[in-house]
Amino acid sequence: MTTTNPATTTAAKISVREVTKTFPLKGEEFVALDRVSIDIADNEFVTVVGPSGCGKSTLMNVLAGLETPISGEALVDGRSVSGPGPERGVIFQQYALFPWLSVRRNVEFGLKINGVPRSERRERAEHFIEMVGLQQFADALPKMLSGGMKQRCAIARAYAVNPSILLMDEPFGALDALTRVKLQEQLLDTWSREKRTVMFITHDVDEAVFLANRVVVMAARPGRIHDVIDVDLPYPRTEDVRLSPEFGELRNRVWHAVYHQEPGIAAGATSH
Ligand SMILES: Nc1ncnc2c1ncn2[C@@H]1O[C@H](COP(=O)(O)OP(=O)(O)OP(=O)(O)O)[C@@H](O)[C@H]1O
Ligand SMILES: [Mg+2]
Repeated sequence: MTTTNPATTTAAKISVREVTKTFPLKGEEFVALDRVSIDIADNEFVTVVGPSGCGKSTLMNVLAGLETPISGEALVDGRSVSGPGPERGVIFQQYALFPWLSVRRNVEFGLKINGVPRSERRERAEHFIEMVGLQQFADALPKMLSGGMKQRCAIARAYAVNPSILLMDEPFGALDALTRVKLQEQLLDTWSREKRTVMFITHDVDEAVFLANRVVVMAARPGRIHDVIDVDLPYPRTEDVRLSPEFGELRNRVWHAVYHQEPGIAAGATSH
């Protein structure tokens, strides 16, 4: 696959328009997202980085249909988001597995809801459990898994329903370096073969640049978009790409945007 940024050629798959979200805090309203706007094109891979508490998970929850903005709106395929939908596969920061279901049944869960027949469920679950290397633990309950294994189970569950949009909140955060690189490559491989739009949150600047067409850098207090950086590097993203001077330059740019931000215009809570 060559390097083209789909954002420049197709209509927005995801559109976030002037989204503001506040939470009550000590009798005031804490501004978690302040008029955040971003368009993500069909089949685009966008990563989101920013300091802790800048609203990354809140933005994802708005897109997942789990949080409602106080103003502005999120659109998917031109339709206003009003709740979760099968076209959006979500991987939460906190795995969110069903503790009473085995790995296999967790992975099959979304397929069951979508009415996929039993035998096909089995087969698809098997495939993705194998992809994340959990074959030996297919019948284990989440409490028997390590943090990284739970995360891999959550990844398998989201991939299994084959959503056109993947919303991933630090999905590789708890993984060892080797598994992480393997899953990064698998994700990019799947993404380049099958049409899919990805919003991927990470704390890892290298990971943000390695995966993305564009990196969105957020800032805190109030949560907002600080910078958007195009990653004009070719796919497939090989070791050579990772070691190239261009990669290094982009990583430094993103790093600087994340860690040398001016303090926010409004310091913390704002009254409404
Ligand atoms: N349900 C909630 N109730 C009250 N405050 C909330 C709620 N959810 C998020 N917040 C606040 O909104 C801000 C943004 O939170 P969010 O979880 O989106 O940050 P984040 O960028 O994902 O941080 P991290 O990198 O640590 O995961 C934080 O200050 C947080 O305390
Ligand atoms: Mg978060």
